[in-house]
Amino acid sequence: MSVFQVKGAVVTGAAGFIGSHLCDALLNRNVPVVAVDNFSTGMRSNIDFLTKHANARSLKFIEADVIEPWQWQKSIPHEWMQKLSHVFHFASPASPPLYQELAFSTLWVNSLGLKNALEFADSLKSTGCGARLIFSSTSEIYGDPEVSPQPESYWGRVNSFGIRSCYDEAKRFGEALLFTHNWKKKTQHGLVRIFNTYGPRMNPHDGRVVINLLKQARDNEPLTIYGDGSQTRSFCYIDDLLDGVLRYAESDITEPVNLGNDVEFTILELAERVRSLHANKKLTIIRQPLPKDDPRQRRPDLSRAKQLLSPWCPKVSLPEGLRRTSEWLEQKA
Ligand SMILES: NC(=O)c1ccc[n+]([C@@H]2O[C@H](COP(=O)([O-])OP(=O)(O)OC[C@H]3O[C@@H](n4cnc5c(N)ncnc54)[C@H](O)[C@@H]3O)[C@@H](O)[C@H]2O)c1
Repeated sequence: MSVFQVKGAVVTGAAGFIGSHLCDALLNRNVPVVAVDNFSTGMRSNIDFLTKHANARSLKFIEADVIEPWQWQKSIPHEWMQKLSHVFHFASPASPPLYQELAFSTLWVNSLGLKNALEFADSLKSTGCGARLIFSSTSEIYGDPEVSPQPESYWGRVNSFGIRSCYDEAKRFGEALLFTHNWKKKTQHGLVRIFNTYGPRMNPHDGRVVINLLKQARDNEPLTIYGDGSQTRSFCYIDDLLDGVLRYAESDITEPVNLGNDVEFTILELAERVRSLHANKKLTIIRQPLPKDDPRQRRPDLSRAKQLLSPWCPKVSLPEGLRRTSEWLEQKA
């Protein structure tokens, strides 16, 4: 049931993979979208794509770092401000190589950046009930889990003092900030815990496993897997994730909800599926050492999402999602 209908939104991280799809979906509904990004990991081509949308007049793009004070809000037309019902705080480096390179920024965007976003959302109270903020948390808050699949009630097994902690602990802090904000200020903001999601418009150079393997296959290079490839992941196609994010945003749920796909594959199986998409090429699979603190398994328990966001459930199979992403990547070459 739609309690908080999206009538207008700020999307941080709009030049990124998920953010650009989110803007696209909102423009399809012809609602005003204020898209914000500093291009630290996102792609200008994703914003160019949005500016060609049939409803592009409903888009305002702002190049800014959301860690800094949101002075740019003064440039949003009054009639747009009055329509803003949602803030999607999706800005954050997300791939391990990039969040490790941008480690401080990763810590701040999920803490100070989130604080700015929450204060902005609350400041819209004058327009009615204030905007509802949705924070993009992650399955990484479960760390290297002892239980599988991971339900939202699982508290996780996270190393707070290692090379992944700038991301994992920043997201955990973000969750704590959002909980405390709702508790003390009586607001109704929410968060989704996103599991591995992939699709067109991912940065082919950001090192995430699906796009990395597809890019290697496109370029006729050996497919790289880390460790023996027996670690498992579940892969969600972007359309399924977005459907869940928008259902969550329009509900009044404030508790965390896992979003992803619960079909589990080993990384070796993923590499084999990518190889089978390029059966005409003689692609080899090569092994590299496993990165530190790499989780051994990852699969969402989707019971809560299926119950609260009914009739949501992931629909796009891995072969179909890989095919669509590969097609996009071929055109991008
Ligand atoms: N894709 C996934 O599988 C996945 C899984 C779990 C969580 N998430 C979360 O979803 C969100 C989006 O992820 P994505 O896959 O689209 O990543 P992405 O790197 O493609 O997009 C992130 C965007 O945020 C922007 N950004 C980063 N720091 C910023 C700052 N300080 N100010 C303004 N813009 C900034 C980047 O330039 C980029 O465009 C992130 O918060 C990420 O942690 C993604």
